[in-house]
Amino acid sequence: MQYDVILPAAGSGKRMAAGHNKLFLELRNKPILIHTLEVFQQDEACRGIWLAVKPDEKAYIQTLLEKYHITKVKAMPNGGEERQHSVVACVKQIEDGQIVLVHDAARPFITIPIIHELVEAAEKKGAAIAGVKAKDTMKVVENGKIKGTVDRSSLWMIQTPQAFDFTLLKKAEQQAETDNFLGTDEAMLVERLGQSVYIVESSYENVKITTKEDLIFGDAILSQRIG
Ligand code: C5P
Repeated sequence: MQYDVILPAAGSGKRMAAGHNKLFLELRNKPILIHTLEVFQQDEACRGIWLAVKPDEKAYIQTLLEKYHITKVKAMPNGGEERQHSVVACVKQIEDGQIVLVHDAARPFITIPIIHELVEAAEKKGAAIAGVKAKDTMKVVENGKIKGTVDRSSLWMIQTPQAFDFTLLKKAEQQAETDNFLGTDEAMLVERLGQSVYIVESSYENVKITTKEDLIFGDAILSQRIG
């Protein structure tokens, strides 16, 4: 079982309001970006990392890669305006992938067992994504008024990694580009082709560091994992 991974890391982090890329914020004295990269660096099944970055951050990221001995980064293409464009920039540079994962660089708590479950599922079925069951009661709200309550039993909150047969991912990206379609994740692009996408139950710890509160949660996860 081997795979390549695309890590979009070219966001602006507006919701974090850190004044710079939130991936440079540190948890336990280590940038979030490095926490994420280390998971894939340590996983023997990972062949290579394709990191989408902002052009003006590339030099700094290069120094971080050297400092933390991250050696698996194969290329750092320029990210695009939207996350999907950043992923496409990486897809275009991969020549011979079989299974390719897309994983938000802002999700540093992903674990190798979940990654391997996703890779195995994608090998068998073509497309598999990480998610967790919705915990709260879900309602549809319009203009401040409740329109209805949704049956929660079939609702999942979707995360990354999302794992794909590379040919399928490329086809989905090309179709989205042709149609000028912007999705909120890669699975959506594959669904548009009429292809089935499967879920792998992930962990509530696999949060995306988005706002300041997530840093508190992230620190608590690290306390529990490494003391
Ligand atoms: O902003 P958000 O955290 O939802 O973005 C998810 C991931 O996508 C982050 O790792 C971010 O750096 C990346 N991203 C990107 N290019 C963009 C926007 C976001 O690579 N244009």
